[in-house]
Amino acid sequence: MLELNDIRLSYGSTSILKGVNLSVKRGDVVSIIGPSGTGKTTLLRCINYLAKPTSGTITLDNIHMDYQSVDKHAIKTIRLRTAMVFQQFNVFKNMTVIENVMDPLVVVQRKSKTEAREIALQELDRVGLATRQDHYPSQLSGGQLQRTGIARALAVRPDVILFDEPTSSLDPELVGEVLKVIKDVTSSGITSLLVTHEMQFAKNISSRIVFMDQGVVAAEGSPDEIFASPATPRLAQFLNSERVF
Ligand SMILES: Nc1ncnc2c1ncn2[C@@H]1O[C@H](COP(=O)(O)OP(=O)(O)O)[C@@H](O)[C@H]1O
Ligand SMILES: [Mg+2]
Repeated sequence: MLELNDIRLSYGSTSILKGVNLSVKRGDVVSIIGPSGTGKTTLLRCINYLAKPTSGTITLDNIHMDYQSVDKHAIKTIRLRTAMVFQQFNVFKNMTVIENVMDPLVVVQRKSKTEAREIALQELDRVGLATRQDHYPSQLSGGQLQRTGIARALAVRPDVILFDEPTSSLDPELVGEVLKVIKDVTSSGITSLLVTHEMQFAKNISSRIVFMDQGVVAAEGSPDEIFASPATPRLAQFLNSERVF
């Protein structure tokens, strides 16, 4: 359902993405692993055009776009059909939990406040935050903030949800509650792309693992293929550095 083809992106004279290919089937949970600075976040941001590739193509279901001839309507549609969960939560501090979740429904999807509130409550319930709906971000833990971010992403009912290191900013004792929610979400069948350093978690929940290194996909396969028999010394070295074994 989602296909990225030969994605290239440079900042100035520095080439960041050097021809990335990625294909995600409906219902897949694809985890992207790899060293810092390798272009994982940039790749996710290419999907919703927060980062602008110099060349390559994207296909999302029936939408197809070549980055060399940008189509505003296609970008808008892709943005409407995807949702991103950010490392730094990205919740609005001046809005309550439920207002944060309602916001894209009202502002982007033009739903009535009544309908938006109803959907937001369902999603807050799903991430275990229904009782916190009227709290402000300053009253919440990092884990609760990220669960708010996940509820907001789910509320737009995206075709694909993009997680960018959703637990990397959390204190260790808060990681578990967020991973549990992500596990529930991914096992509900929503197509997911997850950038993570939680190797054991990626191994458990993913249908496929993609190893990015220096701006390309350097290896990919089933969790077993990637973790049990790493195809290259570079991948084996990376997995060792992440203390998977
Ligand atoms: N807006 C930007 N301008 C210039 N360089 C950037 C920008 N965003 C990211 N980079 C650089 O691109 C490289 C890849 O970054 P990123 O995609 O964040 O990697 P990762 O998520 O794998 O850690 C890094 O060297 C980073 O410094
Ligand atoms: Mg990143």
